[in-house]
Amino acid sequence: MTSLEPAFTEPLLRGRFGRPYLYLARTETTQRMLDAAQPEGAVAVTDEQTEGRGRMGRRWDAPAGSSLLVSTLLRPPPERRAAELTLLAGVCVAVVVERATGLAAQVKWPNDVMLDRRKVAGGLAELKDGAVVLGIGINVNQRPGELPAEAKVPPGSLYSVTGREYERGPILADLLLELERRYDAWREDGLASLYEDLGARDFLRGRRVSHGGVVGTAQMITHDGRLAVTTESGLVVVESGEVSLER
Ligand code: BTN
Repeated sequence: MTSLEPAFTEPLLRGRFGRPYLYLARTETTQRMLDAAQPEGAVAVTDEQTEGRGRMGRRWDAPAGSSLLVSTLLRPPPERRAAELTLLAGVCVAVVVERATGLAAQVKWPNDVMLDRRKVAGGLAELKDGAVVLGIGINVNQRPGELPAEAKVPPGSLYSVTGREYERGPILADLLLELERRYDAWREDGLASLYEDLGARDFLRGRRVSHGGVVGTAQMITHDGRLAVTTESGLVVVESGEVSLER
């Protein structure tokens, strides 16, 4: 499989995201390769992270060359909630995974992408000097034994679900174009611009979930990107964090 170095990947890029395209064969985390001095749409990519970061202080691990590890620098306007960017990333990844695999993908609020009930991707939005570094990890060619064993949500990769190997460069180029288009629309119209596509892929809706000890049934994601849960004591709106599935 081809590496993601610029010689292979840059010719595939069609939009303004990915300019500049910063690549390191190995780095601690792509989140640290970008800073607010970079132009919006600057992208950092690696084939291997030694200190990959997940949400809630977790690690994000993947064998070298197996997955997509990418961060993008964004400067959202002050009237937008940066927290919505993980939902935006989720919809973009789901759409791109669907195009690559031909299977339906879902977004598990607030930041996971699910394929065949397995988490195949995650997004992480971090603030840096007024800009946002939006990191995305997609498990592409990991074999089942290479996926994190102790993950909270059952992990998967495009390979483990479909039995096929994928070239990562075309998926990355498709993702950057999808991100750019949806980000531009979100800048203009906020979450309304992706609400329908998000709702059509809402993994949690109707499922029994728990959050901070409260158990209930997940409702639609609200128009401002929060998660509504009906519980015995009424409707609870979850702001952030993580919900677990109840059996
Ligand atoms: C999660 O689901 O917990 C979010 C995972 C985000 C992983 C990506 S991989 C590229 C970027 N660099 C990191 O260290 N983390 C993000």
